[in-house]
Amino acid sequence: MTIKTEMLHPLLIRIYHWLLAASVVVIIFTSLYTHNPVKILAFMDMGGARMVKFIFSYIAFFLMIARVYYGIVTRDLDHILFNRQDLKDLPGFLKFYFFMSEKEPPHAKYNPGQKLIFTSWLLVFGFAALTGFILYDHSRFGRLLPFFGGLQYLRFLHYLVFLYFVATTMLHVYLAVTEDPAKLQAMFTGHMRRKETP
Ligand code: HEM
Ligand code: HEM
Repeated sequence: MTIKTEMLHPLLIRIYHWLLAASVVVIIFTSLYTHNPVKILAFMDMGGARMVKFIFSYIAFFLMIARVYYGIVTRDLDHILFNRQDLKDLPGFLKFYFFMSEKEPPHAKYNPGQKLIFTSWLLVFGFAALTGFILYDHSRFGRLLPFFGGLQYLRFLHYLVFLYFVATTMLHVYLAVTEDPAKLQAMFTGHMRRKETP
């Protein structure tokens, strides 16, 4: 038996990943507080929580754009963006995850489910930024309000983004820590160690 080591996540991807993960967690908790300033989160005040949320929203926004740029330059965008082939492969992958088939279908770096979540995060975050900016200055962006059905609907749509991020982040973390310890380790060290039997 030999142990093979392969580079899975270059340093830039790891830095990107952990900065993005931290930013999304901070955005979730500060937004939770601005939505409902309960005592248990009272280590911040409303103005502070708002400010921290905006700073980390900008950071996350920048990181996502940087990741797409990195993907274009290194030609690895296909690893994270959900495409037609992934759509075809998705049923087989879901069958495996819902215990209806024994073997996980082969896939490239990420499986179709992960790619669907990663791609949706890019799009949903863009939508969060758009609705967030209109919420922030609805006197200036007031012309756009009718497209969303008014201020209350806009607020509700922005809140749905929050629920989406909470649910998918929990799913992502659950799968990351339960699926393959070698892959989890690779998000820290960059390398994945595989046992190979001849
Ligand atoms: C403790 C929390 C987390 C853990 C343990 C974790 C772990 C992982 C692991 C192991 C992978 C690689 C999956 C694979 O190789 O199959 C990954 C990828 C990824 N994770 Fe996380 N993650 C966490 C939180 C987050 C959060 C909060 C976000 C953002 C919402 C996030 C966004 C991503 C993205 C975008 C990728 C793909 C990286 C790429 O662009 O190549 N992760 N994560
Ligand atoms: C560039 C990105 C974003 C901008 C500019 C933005 C901006 C805003 C603004 C202006 C508000 C109204 C309250 C206030 O003025 O503080 C708000 C509320 C909120 N945001 Fe964001 N946001 C962004 C991203 C996000 C993301 C990614 C999430 C979820 C993960 C989120 C979750 C929330 C929640 C839960 C509320 C409270 C809604 C309510 O009380 O109904 N935001 N945001």
